Amino acid sequence: MQTSFTFKHNLTVDNHFAAEIEIGLLSQSAYISPKFLYDALGSQLFTAITLLPEYYPTNIEQNIFKRYRDQIAKVVGVGGTLIDLGAGNCKKAESFFDSLQPKHYLAIDFSAEHLQDAVNKLKGKYPHIFMQCLATDFSKQLIIPNSLTSTKRTFFYPGSSIGNFSNSEAMQLLSQIKSQAKGGGLLIGVDLIKDDSILMAAYDDPLKVSAAFNLNILRSANLYLGSNFKVEQFSHTVRINHKDSRVELYLEVLEDLTVLWPGNSRTFKKGDLIHTENSHKFTIDSFKRLLKNVGFETSQIWTDPKNYYAVIYAK
Ligand code: AVI
Repeated sequence: MQTSFTFKHNLTVDNHFAAEIEIGLLSQSAYISPKFLYDALGSQLFTAITLLPEYYPTNIEQNIFKRYRDQIAKVVGVGGTLIDLGAGNCKKAESFFDSLQPKHYLAIDFSAEHLQDAVNKLKGKYPHIFMQCLATDFSKQLIIPNSLTSTKRTFFYPGSSIGNFSNSEAMQLLSQIKSQAKGGGLLIGVDLIKDDSILMAAYDDPLKVSAAFNLNILRSANLYLGSNFKVEQFSHTVRINHKDSRVELYLEVLEDLTVLWPGNSRTFKKGDLIHTENSHKFTIDSFKRLLKNVGFETSQIWTDPKNYYAVIYAK
């Protein structure tokens, strides 16, 4: 799906999302796609998560960018097009405008709602950069039309969001990036494997912001599907799956219940789980292998002193 739409008022999109949520809820092991975590409130709750001292990735990535900005620009090269995947408020990409000096900036996100505003603000500040935005669900397919940009492309994918994809989805996205880079490359943030205690605190913080973020997906489902989930009947549950190197988020059902929505229903028993998100953690080597599998060569890696996080440039 590749269009500029207004998120909540497009029937085609809503029907598509409703069908997607229904499939997940009717599966034997129920799930809701993590993209539904990011409705208006969910996006604000995620921003709050990034401000928590326990949620280390945002802060560490920022420090790596600050410390190595000039080195990064040297390796990436100046000019061309900067393509911002999951741009949000565009702040992270903006912090590279002076050093990377892109001629063209293309901001991509799942929802057009805030993207256009953010890009309009930037246009006033950087009139010499040609700016566009594109609302697309790039977890499904990433196509950058040649008509939009034909110069060398630097794909910018910070925040370790690549970890929210399955291995095959990540491979698909990375190989689509590789085939459309036009001689440019990929600058990406990757969260590294670390102690369980650090991960548990980051995904189950004492202020319970992560819990609110996870539970809010039920309200998001209610909105798209017309279901009658009550958040108080569920609890935020985090598991660390060492075999698959990932943190897993679930909503645990606190009492026997039946959820209804137009045309269907699902009965849950106390203790059942709804899977809402995976957050994969990598080693430098496992991520380099992933990149190599889709034809990327790793050019440079920047990390923090504790090796919690890596910023990688590949081409
Ligand atoms: C967006 N993404 C990289 C976050 C993560 O760490 O996987 C989403 C998140 N889920 C719970 N806390 C943060």
